[in-house]
Amino acid sequence: MTNTIEARALVKTYPGDVRALDGLSFVVEAGTVFALVGPNGAGKSTTVKILTTLSKPDAGEAGVAGIDVLHRPDAVRHAIGCVAQKSGIDLAATGRENLMLQGHVYGMRGAELKRRAADLLVSAGLADAAHRVTRTYSGGMQRKLDVAMGLVHRPEVLFLDEPTTGLDPQARLDMWDEIARLARDEGLTILLTTHYLDEADRLAQRLAIVDRGKVVAEGSPEQLKGELRGDAIHVELDEPVDDVSSLDALQGVRDVVVEGRLLHARADNGARMVPVVLAALEAAGIGVASVTVARPSLDDVYLRYAGRAFSDADQEVIR
Ligand SMILES: Nc1ncnc2c1ncn2[C@@H]1O[C@H](COP(=O)(O)OP(=O)(O)O)[C@@H](O)[C@H]1O
Ligand SMILES: [Mg+2]
Repeated sequence: MTNTIEARALVKTYPGDVRALDGLSFVVEAGTVFALVGPNGAGKSTTVKILTTLSKPDAGEAGVAGIDVLHRPDAVRHAIGCVAQKSGIDLAATGRENLMLQGHVYGMRGAELKRRAADLLVSAGLADAAHRVTRTYSGGMQRKLDVAMGLVHRPEVLFLDEPTTGLDPQARLDMWDEIARLARDEGLTILLTTHYLDEADRLAQRLAIVDRGKVVAEGSPEQLKGELRGDAIHVELDEPVDDVSSLDALQGVRDVVVEGRLLHARADNGARMVPVVLAALEAAGIGVASVTVARPSLDDVYLRYAGRAFSDADQEVIR
């Protein structure tokens, strides 16, 4: 198997001593969809910027489509399409004009470019809106046009930085279908970033969970979930607590983590352990509001590796 994307020990520090990347490494096999998953501020966009030649790392190496990103950025730019987290479309121009302009940037001209733009508008489901100013597009339509623009010059690798953030649920499902179609029909290698674990679970053959500039877990969604033996027990407490050492001695319960009013634990047989856990909490004088038992999800994988719940980490940095 050849690796189409390689990131090796990337380090990036921003002014103010922000260590955005702290030795981040991963590889992506040709023709697959790979997801970088992590909360806001994890370093996903910084990684994409480095791999797409828009930023330089302080240390480390990177290769895309067999080309060294640091030594031959121009060659990399022609091999890749990039859809940044912030939309790059011109709201005063029509969908078709946006695609034509993007083609010109890549040196495309004439009939070939016209045909390419028309084809992309059809496959993105935007043919009817091609001659409308994009300001009148819905968020989902604008995002699809963004993706089409990344594809104009027929790249072999596509980078999608948070392609569904801010979209309504239906537009999000449409974008999922579009990404799956691109991977299946166009043979593209796709690297996407997301802070939705379910999105990575659905779209990616492999994913890396990124936290504070490092990969903390990597594998297929099934592998990562499979590494967690047994069920997840989630308990909502009446009041925040920080000491749950009363659960440490319980046989069959492990990985106990408490965050304010939420307590998470794992057990081989979750249903059987619930009464035992409740009895131990009651004996310790800790009131319980609700309990759920679930099969492991990627949220649990994140919790295990990053030591705090995904939703909480996402709240830490509001940007
Ligand atoms: N241009 C910049 N200047 C200073 N700090 C930055 C800059 N870009 C990103 N950062 C910081 O680097 C860290 C990683 O950011 P980013 O790569 O955008 O994360 P993500 O895309 O995962 O949300 C954050 O702490 C962010 O505030
Ligand atoms: Mg980002």
